[in-house]
Amino acid sequence: MDNTSDIYKTTQLPDLIGHVSMQEAVGLLTEQFPGQVTFSTSFSMEDQVITHAILSAGLAVSVFTLDTGRLFAETYSVWSATNEKYGARIKAYYPDRSLLEVYLDQKGPNAFYESVANLKACCHIRKVEPLKRALEGQAVWITGLRAEHSPDRQDHQVVEWDDNNKIIKYNPLLHWKTAAVREYVDSHEVPYNPLHDKGFVSIGCAPCTRAIRAGEDFRAGRWWWEDNSKKECGLHVS
Ligand code: ADX
Ligand code: SF4
Repeated sequence: MDNTSDIYKTTQLPDLIGHVSMQEAVGLLTEQFPGQVTFSTSFSMEDQVITHAILSAGLAVSVFTLDTGRLFAETYSVWSATNEKYGARIKAYYPDRSLLEVYLDQKGPNAFYESVANLKACCHIRKVEPLKRALEGQAVWITGLRAEHSPDRQDHQVVEWDDNNKIIKYNPLLHWKTAAVREYVDSHEVPYNPLHDKGFVSIGCAPCTRAIRAGEDFRAGRWWWEDNSKKECGLHVS
């Protein structure tokens, strides 16, 4: 872990990665950190672009998802279609059973609508804690974050040190626009979530995601009953 931080802080690697194509960057990262580069997918259109780039080129990157147990049926369909198309087995991490059982016993299944504390606790159990396990022993975490999605996301860098998880984070699509994502998916015939064609832009758990209306912020459909300052679940602390 210390070694990863040293490499990030003292070598030209981060700068280099920020200036080459996604596939070249991933190649450099896997050379530097063999067996320690991982990609998290929520099966959003952005994530499907990265999945295609990794799996169609056979890059040595592990791919995982955090199955919160509250995903849309459509998300499971894209997951399945992706396994089929690329002959892959995307690894799933699940919430810790005892933490979840205690939370559900005390609060019930939809407590996130009642308070921000309940929302944060649910996201912690269903996403943040499993993420910690998924990133254990890894040096590089690839994500599909895009700056266009919200003002907070503009603070991220394409290559950044995630001090929270003590890992190098690579966000290859950070500055991609929606049209470029769509163009990639169409031209490479990448399977994608049909909810994207029904007004869903940023897709998370079913009870906490709705379609957005014309002119609304991209993340307006996430935790729509809360104000903007509460719309991060704790996965991406910059
Ligand atoms: S979130 O923090 O609001 O949930 P968002 O949906 O914007 O995140 O997705 C940004 C990136 O976080 C995705 O491209 C993906 O890399 C990662 N991510 C989000 N949700 C999941 C998930 N359920 N499983 C794996 N990765 C996820
Ligand atoms: Fe729970 Fe909603 Fe967070 Fe999913 S997005 S983990 S259902 S609070």
